[in-house]
Amino acid sequence: MKVCVIGTGYVGLVTGVCLAEIGHDVICVDKDAKKIASLGKGKVPIFEEGLEGLVKKNLKKGNLIFAEDVGSAIRQSDIIFICVGTPPLPSGKPDLAAIDEVSKLVGESLNGYKIIINKSTVPIGSAKRIKKIIKENQNDESSKYGFDIVSNPEFLKEGEAVKDAFFPERIVIGSGSKKAIEAMKKLYKPIINQDFDYASSNTHKKEKVPVVITDSTSSELIKYASNAFLATKISFVNEIANICERIDANILDVTYGMGLDSRIGSRFMKAGIGWGGSCFPKDVRALGYTAEEYGSPASILNAVIQVNNHQRFKIIRKAMDLLGIIDDKIIGVLGLSFKPNTDDTRESPSIAVINKFLELGAEVRVYDPIVKKYPEEMDKGATITSDPYKAIENADLMALVTEWDEFSSLDFKKIKDLMANPNIIDGRNHLNKKDLMELGFSYIGIGN
Ligand code: UDX
Repeated sequence: MKVCVIGTGYVGLVTGVCLAEIGHDVICVDKDAKKIASLGKGKVPIFEEGLEGLVKKNLKKGNLIFAEDVGSAIRQSDIIFICVGTPPLPSGKPDLAAIDEVSKLVGESLNGYKIIINKSTVPIGSAKRIKKIIKENQNDESSKYGFDIVSNPEFLKEGEAVKDAFFPERIVIGSGSKKAIEAMKKLYKPIINQDFDYASSNTHKKEKVPVVITDSTSSELIKYASNAFLATKISFVNEIANICERIDANILDVTYGMGLDSRIGSRFMKAGIGWGGSCFPKDVRALGYTAEEYGSPASILNAVIQVNNHQRFKIIRKAMDLLGIIDDKIIGVLGLSFKPNTDDTRESPSIAVINKFLELGAEVRVYDPIVKKYPEEMDKGATITSDPYKAIENADLMALVTEWDEFSSLDFKKIKDLMANPNIIDGRNHLNKKDLMELGFSYIGIGN
């Protein structure tokens, strides 16, 4: 099928490459000329395992193209994916300017029947909004042609996006058009049947991928509710971890015991300093906003955000309990990205922690395996070091905030010698408490 993907951020790029890999002719378009130029050379601007290799492979095969001219790409394609950003406005409401701009362009560019698929995370009711804007912008020529709208949310996790694209837990198709639904099934057939090269050599291969067919509003809500539920699960476990600290229970055993109940499940049960990233914070806020807008109280959603905002500062309170006055203390922070295996620092709990330590007058040094540049939101008072040992040299405290694998295999004997005071606060329960205490560290985790 001839596919055009508008927007080459996380979602657009991974979606476009995945569709090319399973055999479709894909044009990925973006108005960012510099980005399109480097993508055209096979250079991928984000850190995502397996992505650059697939881009290069499909560029070479010739069924993946990067271009700037959105109108021309739309005219050359039958299937149009909208994958543009919907960043939060100060109110918490998603900014739909890019969606509107693309919908207008689609309306002007129709030169045959097209299926317009929205994959951006958009507020409830956006499929109807997109349809209206397209219709309003059809001109004498393009108004000769019909189109259908489909809501097809993505569930990609950063750091595992390529895997999630090829081996999704489900595919959701929201549309009132039988014709469009059949076309979507045809488009995703290799994924649904897990019948494509990339699968054959992959341990993640599934039997078949379930397909959820529904209306566009329910489809849009599936996306928000799924993210909000995962965030709720984490905030719940963090609340339980806080109780554990008061009654001397161990959250690791508690979540293990809970997770064996298949109705609860063991995934997304890791207590720590809370969730961040480009999705959970914005989506939970947006859903709460929509709920209130439609007169439905968002009590749980508001509580989930409140628990999360509180959780990130647990490290600060524990540091105060441990060190007393924070002013002039040296603190080594491990981790900047909002989670391991990504270079994304958007809404990263780490940055909130670092800024607070700086505000309290501490000297802060931070190390991250791949984030080397100063994140915009981080106060410039912190020093980014080139290796973890430099971050904790002469430090009074080591604070682990992102659970990168490499942190658990550090040389802790060397670290003990380098630190001024052997204090560790493990904000992700990532390190081995018993071993560290045997080495003479004072170790504090979250809920254990
Ligand atoms: C999330 C959803 O998982 C994905 O389906 C959706 O498409 C986009 O949003 P992502 O933002 O990449 O993906 O991150 P995810 O792996 O879900 O982690 C989100 C946050 O929760 C991170 O800050 C992570 O550290 C935290 N987390 C995750 C926990 O604190 N405990 C857990 O058990 C799991």
